[in-house]
Amino acid sequence: MAVIADRCPDIKVTVVDLNEERISAWNHHDLSCLPVYEPGLDAVVGRARSRNLHFTTEVNQAIAEADMIFLSVNTPTKTRGVGAGQASDLRWIEASARQVAAAANGHTIVVEKSTLPVRTAEAVKAILAAAQGDTGGSKTFSVLSNPEFLAEGTAIADLESPDRVLIGGEDAAAIEALAAVYGHWVPAERILRTNLWSSELSKLTANAFLAQRISSINAIASLCEATGADVREVARAIGTDSRIGPKFLQAGPGYGGSCFQKDILNLVYLCRHYGLEEAASYWESVVTLNTWQQQRIARLVVNSLFGTVSGKRIAVLGFAFKADTNDTREAPAIRICRDLIEEGAQLAIVDPKVEAGQMARDLEKAPVTPDQARMGIPLGGEGTWTHEASPLEAARGADAVLILTEWKDYRQLDWQALHAVMRRPAWLFDARAVADPVAARASGLNVWRVGEG
Ligand code: UGA
Repeated sequence: MAVIADRCPDIKVTVVDLNEERISAWNHHDLSCLPVYEPGLDAVVGRARSRNLHFTTEVNQAIAEADMIFLSVNTPTKTRGVGAGQASDLRWIEASARQVAAAANGHTIVVEKSTLPVRTAEAVKAILAAAQGDTGGSKTFSVLSNPEFLAEGTAIADLESPDRVLIGGEDAAAIEALAAVYGHWVPAERILRTNLWSSELSKLTANAFLAQRISSINAIASLCEATGADVREVARAIGTDSRIGPKFLQAGPGYGGSCFQKDILNLVYLCRHYGLEEAASYWESVVTLNTWQQQRIARLVVNSLFGTVSGKRIAVLGFAFKADTNDTREAPAIRICRDLIEEGAQLAIVDPKVEAGQMARDLEKAPVTPDQARMGIPLGGEGTWTHEASPLEAARGADAVLILTEWKDYRQLDWQALHAVMRRPAWLFDARAVADPVAARASGLNVWRVGEG
């Protein structure tokens, strides 16, 4: 919405949320305090805020004034009831649709921006149609699907120069009204129009294909490690085939983020719902492989450290699910750290953007202080974790450094200095293959890199 406001000074954009704290953070005079860390977002918000971009908790008033409403609420995987663990929980979409139905005025175009299971537009339409009937047609609605394809960390560039914008719907006038918004800066040939269901399904399919590529390359990485091949050489060799392409072939600790897992599980649920068992288990295997990759990394750390990490200090570099974001949703670091704590390790975790409180919520465990950590824990006891200020502090006294996020800083670490403060024999486990392996080995470290045999 900030980018739309930035690119369309003639359009008034009002972002509403029920959460007062969050809205006031978006209105904070200091742009470094915005609630989401995303490179370049502060500049965009700085240009548009108070001009034609507004953040408010006056939800009903904003709905009443709007010609077009984007529903951008979250749709997490259901945790209970029918479809638990796979289907999306649509309660916030439904609540938003009901609020729009009650507060709207005249004709309103309602745009689904949240990633939704296929045929959700039908539910939204039914709620809005009921409101339309109740008022004898004094309020009318058109429903469009306009899924978002940006990736975190590169969101601003992805929005300013999208590969495509997808608009699904049946009402031609509404489709053209939304196309005209994007037409302010997106070339006409990149604005695709489809029916509602194709648009909704395209979003799930794009994420399923992307996640499948990561599970594919991670499966090959495990085989490279076993055979003596190098997954980066394999990726380069296959990526030059224009049918395959070079992007999204980086082996790692498994994909994270709020979308891939949820969207594939959603796809699996849909396939099962329609009786397509083979299609369902095909996509399910992408998730199975991803979970296995995370467990595999935790296991190989334990195996390399003489089969036990109990009482040993392990420096974990990176907690976010990818670089350039403070988002930790479904981050591979969560499962890997939990597994190591379970094994009795003392983790020393550092991340340039993730706060200790977030790590504690994700690990469901409070940190201990560095002093408590130095006193050690009884052998066989459950592990602990501390939040550290820098990789050097984290490495002090550690048996191993484990890199889980590809932050730029981790490409240029001084391995001599790190090795000097570690306990010998010391290990580097580089699950992102970002550190300089030559420098790390020259410092005396044992080095494991994902996908290197
Ligand atoms: C993903 C999609 O890329 C976006 O197109 C989509 O709009 C978004 O989900 C969404 O549905 O909202 P995002 O999750 O922000 O975007 O980030 P990605 O860059 O796709 O990375 C996802 C995960 O895959 C990260 O954990 C990343 O480290 C991992 N990854 C990515 C790899 O392990 N290897 C790769 O080669 C690429």
